[in-house]
Amino acid sequence: MQLKGKTALITGASSGIGEATARHLAKAGAHVVLAARRKERLARLAKRIQDETDVQVLTVATDVTKREQMEALVRQAEEELGSVDILVNNAGVMLLSFLEKDKVDEWEQMVDVNIKGVLFGLHAVLPGMLKRRDGHIINISSVAGHEVFPSSSVYSATKYAVRALSMGMEKELARSGVRVTNISPGAVATELTHHITDTDVTDRFAKQSLTPLESEDIARSIVYAVTQPENVNVNEVIVRPTNRRS
Ligand SMILES: NC(=O)c1ccc[n+]([C@@H]2O[C@H](COP(=O)([O-])OP(=O)(O)OC[C@H]3O[C@@H](n4cnc5c(N)ncnc54)[C@H](OP(=O)(O)O)[C@@H]3O)[C@@H](O)[C@H]2O)c1
Repeated sequence: MQLKGKTALITGASSGIGEATARHLAKAGAHVVLAARRKERLARLAKRIQDETDVQVLTVATDVTKREQMEALVRQAEEELGSVDILVNNAGVMLLSFLEKDKVDEWEQMVDVNIKGVLFGLHAVLPGMLKRRDGHIINISSVAGHEVFPSSSVYSATKYAVRALSMGMEKELARSGVRVTNISPGAVATELTHHITDTDVTDRFAKQSLTPLESEDIARSIVYAVTQPENVNVNEVIVRPTNRRS
């Protein structure tokens, strides 16, 4: 119960890594604010957390690409639970495609969710964290934010951006009481790949023999980062499956 009395806000909490992270943070004692667009999935998760723990749970249907919705989300969390002590900037989309397919709407969606979503999250929580001289921001990048492979150019560009933002935040906020952790997962079994429309990419995924990580594996690394002593700032965590090829 190391996080007793803290409040954690998780974006993209309706599935995958966000859902597992919310459950693990709640089990560590934090009140949780669950944000994503699919209300019914958030309600189902809220019930599960309430059955498993006695922390407070708030669900707020939120589109992270809308600045005013992110501001309203944090305002509601602060009003109902007092403060947002931990922000997990997790919402993301991975619409892999080859550049020659010219899927410009999907490029725009990735930029909006993966980059603007993280910036709007930062914008909404930072004033409160600076005032309290206490807070922790977790940004979910990817191993695709460390290397680029065919079909990942735009997705990787957004995840490199997340990592660059994490590095900047960590340096600028180091003495402010606000800690920053960039988490870069390798392949994790979630719904992330379900939205890919480029069939050349989905065919390649179908032939892949890799056994991916589970969302819980990433959730545990997030709990690790946010439960360190106050003088410890875990800035970068890379978590890959053991059986990858390179
Ligand atoms: N799975 C992997 O292999 C892997 C590897 C490296 C990094 N990551 C990163 O991990 C993060 C979580 O992905 P996941 O693997 O858990 O995939 P996922 O199960 O598809 O979860 C993505 C989450 O993002 C939310 N989301 C998407 N667009 C949104 C929007 N406009 N506003 C609010 N929420 C939005 C979705 O909720 P709604 O649809 O309900 O809004 C969902 O909860 C992403 O940033 C992803 O890039 C994943």
